[in-house]
Amino acid sequence: MTLTDPTTAIRPRTWRTRAAFWWIALSALAIAVLAPLPYALTSLTDLAAQDQQLATNYAGRSSAVQLAFYLHITCGGIALLLSPLQFATRLRIRAVAAHRAVGRVVLGAIAVAGLAGLVLAPHNVAGPVGTAGFGLLALLWLGFSATAFLAIQRRRDVTAHRRWMVRAFALTYAAVTLRLWLGVLMGAQSGVWGVDGDTAFERAYLLVPFLCWVPNLIVAEWYLAVQRRTVPDPLTREVAAP
Ligand code: HEM
Repeated sequence: MTLTDPTTAIRPRTWRTRAAFWWIALSALAIAVLAPLPYALTSLTDLAAQDQQLATNYAGRSSAVQLAFYLHITCGGIALLLSPLQFATRLRIRAVAAHRAVGRVVLGAIAVAGLAGLVLAPHNVAGPVGTAGFGLLALLWLGFSATAFLAIQRRRDVTAHRRWMVRAFALTYAAVTLRLWLGVLMGAQSGVWGVDGDTAFERAYLLVPFLCWVPNLIVAEWYLAVQRRTVPDPLTREVAAP
């Protein structure tokens, strides 16, 4: 079976694409480990006692919501950690079996984390804005990943599979951009206007449920459009033999 996608297989690697890949892979690794870590080391009750706002929100919830919370952060972490490997062209071409196995783990992790994200969305700290932003994010995350899976599983359409996985990853990466935006927005409020930490967090958190993923999706669409225009494309819809 061939798993070559003409839009990447013949594209020369520039220092910019390498730098972008390593930035994405390392920032994903950092957040995949650091974001869930406090919840792995300390109970929600103890974190709430330390005034950690998100833990305070979940410490008093039903066990079903708390289970969704832990499933979400574990499986979200796995998806974020492993996804960059799937975009490494050489690895994908040389080790197709590994690409398939890791892909199934990533898609399974997204299915669990996305469904758990849907359970968490109505209980989020930002209120209705968060329910809409995180809820829509979870639905698109599940939808894009399922479309990517069906493209390769049912139609062997490598190009469509890759394009939907780029979109799905733009949403997975929301876990990173959410924390970057929070840092920037909180830093700006405290640094420029002297707003206290809790107020700065509450205000920033009203924006991040959409800000964490809408720009990512725009960048992904731009990247896919540039590739479509610039890559010589004799086989735009290469179909892998079964
Ligand atoms: C892309 C789809 C995702 C959706 C829809 C989503 C949704 C949510 C929601 C609704 C919450 C609760 C926020 C609140 O209570 O205000 C949450 C928290 C959390 N999520 Fe996600 N999430 C996604 C991806 C990820 C990924 C890929 C990770 C991987 C690290 C992750 C890790 C976490 C963590 C650690 C928390 C706890 C909050 C914190 O301490 O920062 N999420 N997520």
